[in-house]
Amino acid sequence: MKRLDGKVALITGAARGIGLAFARAYVREGARVVIADIDRVRAQEAAAELGAAARAVEMDVSRQQSIDSAVAEALAAFGQIDILINNAALFSAAPIVEISRADYQRLFDINVAGTLFTLQAVARHMIARGQGGKIINMASQAGRRGEALVATYCATKAAVISLTQSAGLNLIEHGINVNAIAPGVVDGEHWDGVDAFFAKYENKAPGQKKQEVGQAVPFGRMGRAEDLTGMAVFLASGEADYIVAQTYNVDGGNWMS
Ligand SMILES: NC(=O)c1ccc[n+]([C@@H]2O[C@H](COP(=O)([O-])OP(=O)(O)OC[C@H]3O[C@@H](n4cnc5c(N)ncnc54)[C@H](O)[C@@H]3O)[C@@H](O)[C@H]2O)c1
Repeated sequence: MKRLDGKVALITGAARGIGLAFARAYVREGARVVIADIDRVRAQEAAAELGAAARAVEMDVSRQQSIDSAVAEALAAFGQIDILINNAALFSAAPIVEISRADYQRLFDINVAGTLFTLQAVARHMIARGQGGKIINMASQAGRRGEALVATYCATKAAVISLTQSAGLNLIEHGINVNAIAPGVVDGEHWDGVDAFFAKYENKAPGQKKQEVGQAVPFGRMGRAEDLTGMAVFLASGEADYIVAQTYNVDGGNWMS
């Protein structure tokens, strides 16, 4: 008996990085997964790797119509959704005086509205089905405190922590557990982009910021996507039934709260 046998998970932003690691871990634990991503080609490649237990769905979490059709496609494919991971997000960095309204709006549309309205669409299905469910939002250590060059992204992740609390309190009466994971610094394509931002704004050589943040982690290195899968499986399992509205740091010791 595997820990997620018979469960269906919708994972946004699962075509690569942390979301793809979650999809692989969930399939290993017996779940079927819907890999929902704005990058259709890579979502299809990821689903092909995972075989019959996975479906790719093109989804832009910043568009309501796309949220609705992705949820409908997931239900058409597998008949139910037991688990949602709100994982899709964008990063950007700039000094306060250079932040553009367009960039601010784009990040809030994807990271915050995308999380809330995907959660809402899936919660409606879970409530109608009457069998509860598990919703996991991807927060960040960036949501725990501001950073000089990362104001907008930090604010979106603080909002994700707050939404996790409110939705967790509101939905537990339906047996739906809403919790969040706050990673620290996780190596991958996301952090290649972060490194490039800091190379520009802090005059660092490519790769230097990564090296610095990795050395500063108490564990002694940057995280890997696979370091987060244990928490994602646990929060999706029956072992987490009594956990409500929490955000867990999985960050090698970077943040304590
Ligand atoms: N990597 C880190 O160090 C780190 C740290 C803390 C938190 N996080 C969070 O973890 C999550 C995953 O991070 P990652 O490192 O795997 O990022 P990533 O950039 O590698 O992957 C993000 C995925 O989301 C998809 N995506 C982007 N916009 C989308 C949209 N509008 N609709 C649907 N999909 C969209 C991308 O195509 C990509 O596949 C994010 O929420 C991120 O903020 C990451």
